Amino acid sequence: MTNIILCGGSGTRLWPLSRTLMPKQFVKLFEGESLFQKTVERNQKACDSQFIVSNTEQYFLAVDQIEEHNDDHSKLNIQHLTFLLEPVGRNTAPAIALACLALDPEETVLVTPSDHLIKDEVAYLEAVERAKALAVQGSLVTFGITPQYPETGFGYIEAEGEDVRSFREKPDAQTAQSYLDAGNYYWNSGMFCFKAGTFLDELQSYAPEIFEASVKAYGQAKKDDMIRISHEDMMAIPEDSIDYAVMEQSSRVKVVPSDIAWSDLGSFDALYEELPQDSNGNASSSLNSEIITQQASNNLILSEKLVAAIDVDDLLIVDTADALLVSQKGSSQKVKEVVKKLKERN
Ligand code: GDD
Ligand code: MG
Repeated sequence: MTNIILCGGSGTRLWPLSRTLMPKQFVKLFEGESLFQKTVERNQKACDSQFIVSNTEQYFLAVDQIEEHNDDHSKLNIQHLTFLLEPVGRNTAPAIALACLALDPEETVLVTPSDHLIKDEVAYLEAVERAKALAVQGSLVTFGITPQYPETGFGYIEAEGEDVRSFREKPDAQTAQSYLDAGNYYWNSGMFCFKAGTFLDELQSYAPEIFEASVKAYGQAKKDDMIRISHEDMMAIPEDSIDYAVMEQSSRVKVVPSDIAWSDLGSFDALYEELPQDSNGNASSSLNSEIITQQASNNLILSEKLVAAIDVDDLLIVDTADALLVSQKGSSQKVKEVVKKLKERN
């Protein structure tokens, strides 16, 4: 099985920790490792080759982290790793299509984002095995997470056992709440398993423009030690996610319910929950140097500097070389409004 690692997003919801040139998957938040390194390592246990689809700008960052990780731990196998570089991202449907075009149509692929945390690796590898068995039979397999709250940034899977009645990407809040009330919906984890040929067939049926343009772009790509798509060919591919372009349309979708301690770390509030906390509930990461707290509790403090916090509770404090975020805990969804303002200024 081949693991396609999607590594093209910039993850602006964790600004200023996550930036265009240092997206969250590369930040070393957990035990000195990045989510990208953890993803590569975890999936080498299930797959015998890996395809990293990333933006050209992030190539050196990705290679550095793989090589460094390889030196430190001798854990990573770099022999069976191929890069496919996009000069510009066109979202996940084209990224996955380009990687599938490089493979045998009968090859089973496991598509994984590079910016998620999965804490129960044993359960994860079991779910992957089950997904593989369904994929071999010609299904597009999703991994279903029991929903905790009506998140509007996720896809929802309406399930009947492993069969999928419907897939709905990013519903509004009211619809999301109705799915939670109904009880037979999962969150889509953003990971997929299928035969390369199954995905391409479904893409051709439901998003023929993306399919045709991807075939053309792949055909004209530079293929040496890595695969490089030209800017012009990439721009000619319509932009869309696999969720809207294929999963909402296809009748070949299955779901493997996955109790794998999953988080997409989509906000600082979510990150707070996953990081180690001191006895007063102050969370920090392996990025931090020292933290001194006096009557301070339940804060998230991320900084490479020494930080002292006195008489403050429930704050998100995220300090980087050129930007500092201070927010009330519970307000981290509003970070995207700051990012929007910054983009408007540029
Ligand atoms: N190579 C490449 N090129 N990767 C990309 C691109 C691109 O143009 N766009 C996004 N990615 C990568 C991101 O880095 C991330 O790892 C993954 O693809 C998913 O993209 P997101 O932009 O993070 O998607 P999302 O979070 O809005 O939604 C997806 O994930 C949710 C779970 O976290 C969907 O699959 C939802 O249905 C799902 O619930
Ligand atoms: Mg995401």
